[in-house]
Amino acid sequence: MNLSQRDKKHNWHPYTQHKTAQDFPAIVKGKDALLWDENGKEYIDAIASWWVNPYGHSNKFIADAIYEQLTTLEHVLFGGFTHNKAVELSEKLMDILPSNQNKIFYSDNGSTAVEVAIKVALQYNYNKGIKKTKIIAFENAFHGDTFGAMAASGISFFTEAFNGSLLEVVRIPVPTIGNEEKCFEILKNLVTTNDFAAFIFEPLILGAAGMVMYQPEILDKLIAICQQNNVFTIADEVMTGFGKTGKTFASDYLVEKPDMMCLSKALTGGTIPMAITTFTQEIFDGFYDDDTNKALFHGHTFTANPTGCAAALASLKLLQTDEMQNNIQRINKHHLAFENKIKNHPKVKTTRVLGVIFALEIKTETNESYYGNLRNKLYKFFIENGVILRPVGNIIYVLPPYIIKDDQLQKVYQTIENALEIV
Ligand SMILES: Cc1ncc(COP(=O)(O)O)c(C=O)c1O
Repeated sequence: MNLSQRDKKHNWHPYTQHKTAQDFPAIVKGKDALLWDENGKEYIDAIASWWVNPYGHSNKFIADAIYEQLTTLEHVLFGGFTHNKAVELSEKLMDILPSNQNKIFYSDNGSTAVEVAIKVALQYNYNKGIKKTKIIAFENAFHGDTFGAMAASGISFFTEAFNGSLLEVVRIPVPTIGNEEKCFEILKNLVTTNDFAAFIFEPLILGAAGMVMYQPEILDKLIAICQQNNVFTIADEVMTGFGKTGKTFASDYLVEKPDMMCLSKALTGGTIPMAITTFTQEIFDGFYDDDTNKALFHGHTFTANPTGCAAALASLKLLQTDEMQNNIQRINKHHLAFENKIKNHPKVKTTRVLGVIFALEIKTETNESYYGNLRNKLYKFFIENGVILRPVGNIIYVLPPYIIKDDQLQKVYQTIENALEIV
């Protein structure tokens, strides 16, 4: 039996209906933007392995930092102890985060970063004796799969089995062009009820919804509405963080600054699972008290794992090199050129580009479901052609590692053009 066949015996994969799923390619090696399976077939990783891997697979600079850390101090509990890598990483993040952020809480993945933000928003009010138990989020948002994050997520089939067991979340429309006023009105009506502890959002671009984009000026207005009414704003930058939108954070496009930020994915360059939730001093102060019960009683065994912190420090160094910044600009230029070429294709409905993210919506007769036939047909075509792309319904998007080579990017575009011929 090969690896693909052995995999089926014991492994339960994410987002997978195993009864209808095909055998999965077994990846045995990765280098830069490329992956190879057990049969030697080569794939271009055009989505940076779920958006985690800007600097490429098997990056030696990050690997060396991890090795050095593993052989110096692999892990120490963060409850009651600290260590140099967490101190250094928090200091480095302060240099690049929006100026109102001052406190860092470590966890393990994007969902837990969101979970922490939501718990903090609720407990901040509880600590002050204020009853605010609900959250506001966008329709079609995605914030993760743990209970709080799932409640905030609006993609129904991810969460419908759990309706009735979730935190109360009220949704507002995404303020895409034409929806802005409606969105402002609904938000204004909600925040004045005093029921809401926070508004959580994916800033400028909703990833899992199909790279749906909206403008920074509009988000500025939404944040201002919340801040005027004492509702915390949580920027979930799990997908957008560390250069994806062309700036270090999507929040860097804003004038108004969010109260909390959630980071993960590219934080460690796709090596060690790790996440961070960041806060203003004011929020931290809401927990700072002689009363022990007002502390944040949240933690994970691997909180601020030194190896993860070392990987994150190395990743930040890479992000800040001229070479990486030029790569981000280079990919953006190629995306814009491809958008220009493809936007009038008879099968293309819309296209959009932000930073290293390109998205194309295929014209369809009916509403295509997330994991529907069109999506499955496209996905199969891409994999057969050695390009890893995971369309969302009728939306194809590209979010490549920053180090992808020009010819590899051109192959990705060409494969997308070819795919349009089979739909
Ligand atoms: C915006 C956003 N938030 C949270 C998450 C959840 O992150 P994780 O899968 O690491 O739990 C994701 C994952 O795609 C995401 O895109």
